[in-house]
Amino acid sequence: MDAVAEAFRAIPREGFLPARMRHLASYDGPVDIGFGQTNSQPRTVEDMLRLLDVRPGQRVLDVGAGSGWTTALLAHLVGPTGEVVGVEIVPELVNVGSANVAETQQPWAVLEQAHPGVFGLPDRGPYDRILVSAEARELPDELVEQLSPGGRLVIPVFGTMLLVVKDADGQVEVTRHGSYRFVPLRRALH
Ligand SMILES: C[S@@+](CC[C@H](N)C(=O)[O-])C[C@H]1O[C@@H](n2cnc3c(N)ncnc32)[C@H](O)[C@@H]1O
Repeated sequence: MDAVAEAFRAIPREGFLPARMRHLASYDGPVDIGFGQTNSQPRTVEDMLRLLDVRPGQRVLDVGAGSGWTTALLAHLVGPTGEVVGVEIVPELVNVGSANVAETQQPWAVLEQAHPGVFGLPDRGPYDRILVSAEARELPDELVEQLSPGGRLVIPVFGTMLLVVKDADGQVEVTRHGSYRFVPLRRALH
């Protein structure tokens, strides 16, 4: 079993769905988690994690942490020598997602509230890997800036999954990896 398959085995989706939605855990589609947001389709999460190619010990930013599922999967992939910061724009979901992640007993993963008008968490960067689970209208430069040299960013932009790879000199290459639908990436204004 490869690392991504092993992460899915170790971190079941069920623990990240509201009680009334748990019967949908094996459904391969997005599931409502309240506040107009969703827990992402498992096959899509798997595709994104494979593109991201997370290694043990890395620092990872999870933008759009929502239920906390992707944050916990990433935490499993980096292991205790790594670090995962999930950032979420809906305050209630920061609480729900934090509690869900805490249940997995991986204290190297935490959730934080998104700052008004800011994408990602530049103060805690740079990151070896950035996963974005909400759709941008265009590739946000400020997330690319938060990537370390050698880093990888996976983000849906205008219906297409993009992989952004930054080389050791800071040069960026963008490749396209199929069509996907997501809730929009928003800017907190308050
Ligand atoms: C598809 S959902 C959640 C997926 C989540 N990774 C999971 O495993 O359940 C995307 C999330 O992105 C959040 N979001 C949207 N714009 C954001 C932003 N600028 N910063 C942080 N989170 C954002 C939404 O509130 C929503 O919870």
